[in-house]
Amino acid sequence: MHKIFNVSEDIYYIGVNDRKTELFENMWPLPKGIAYNSYLIKDEKVALVDGVEIGQVEKYLKKIRAIIGDQAIDYLIINHMEPDHGGAIDIIKKLYPDIKIVGNKKTLQMLEGYFGITDNIVEVKDKGELNLGKHTLNFYTMPMVHWPEVMTTYDNIDKILFSADAFGSFGTIDGGIFDDQFDFDANIDEMRRYYSNIVGKYGSPVQKALSKFTKLGIDIKIIASTHGHIIRENIDKVLSLYNQWSTHEGQKGVVVAYASMYGNTEDMAEAVAHGLADSGINNIVLYDVSKTHSSYIISDVFKYKGVILASPTYCNELHPNMESLITKFEHMGVANKLLGIVGSFSWASAAVKKLNVFAENIKWDLVSDAVEEKHALKEEKYEACYNLGKTMAEKL
Ligand code: FEO
Repeated sequence: MHKIFNVSEDIYYIGVNDRKTELFENMWPLPKGIAYNSYLIKDEKVALVDGVEIGQVEKYLKKIRAIIGDQAIDYLIINHMEPDHGGAIDIIKKLYPDIKIVGNKKTLQMLEGYFGITDNIVEVKDKGELNLGKHTLNFYTMPMVHWPEVMTTYDNIDKILFSADAFGSFGTIDGGIFDDQFDFDANIDEMRRYYSNIVGKYGSPVQKALSKFTKLGIDIKIIASTHGHIIRENIDKVLSLYNQWSTHEGQKGVVVAYASMYGNTEDMAEAVAHGLADSGINNIVLYDVSKTHSSYIISDVFKYKGVILASPTYCNELHPNMESLITKFEHMGVANKLLGIVGSFSWASAAVKKLNVFAENIKWDLVSDAVEEKHALKEEKYEACYNLGKTMAEKL
């Protein structure tokens, strides 16, 4: 027994919720689960748009059969090959041996590489089209949002953009499938966490995709991503958020991320926060990098303009958890941030030096010289940390 969800008259939502997986890509926490979205277009020809993660395939097939029974499926359109969508391709192909798989040149290379599939293929080019009867689909490549083969599929009748990972979110779909059927604004943090963790490195490709949609004058009434709710009421808001996030334009606020073994570096981080607060900054978030998963810290660094990094020296290096965090910032190419550095040590100083090298490599603007303390935080360095907070506030 399955509820049948219509996205439009001929287009159905056949996605599945995953509440069991703890870590997306075996890395990013999923406290609210995740949805793998797929769509079925029932026209003269039947087409699937994207698939699901392999562990969910039984549920997925039941949803398909609830709509088309034993009818054949003509096309499987692959917008994105990552296994959370493409993992069950060979199972679908075995069950529907005449199905034609639709993808671009790069998709087809991956199809062969992952599954050895080379037959019953329809290769499409950028702006190519496929007629299903009443519906004509157009394909627009969107490389590196999030893999090189990514493309979007656009339905010309219902003005639906099947956007692959773009505009997706962590979190399952609990009840209604549309954005106006849940508290969309309350979910923006999860949408940004998804964007920053998964697609965040590819800000420039996201910008290219956004301007491509604008230049081509694509009229989008519905955005149907591969994750999260289907968007029909908040399209302008979502496009604007993506524009903001992909240009790394942070809001006025500061993430203070610290590592601390015995509380001395934490005292320094708090002193900076006091200076920020006394200077009128309301959005201050302090994170202990050993307690909070980097997923959430990265997401807030995408949200806010200011970053304070605080670390003790550990084995003549940075604290390993701080090192891990800044490595992720470097991998993701996070840009356009104002940075303040504080650090402590007990007998040999290294942390501040390492954080200064990080600042230089990533090209974030240092708001002032780093503050460094030996042993416990004392009055003079408390003032220096406090003033660092004030200086950051002035520059925001
Ligand atoms: Fe949802 Fe890049 O896969």
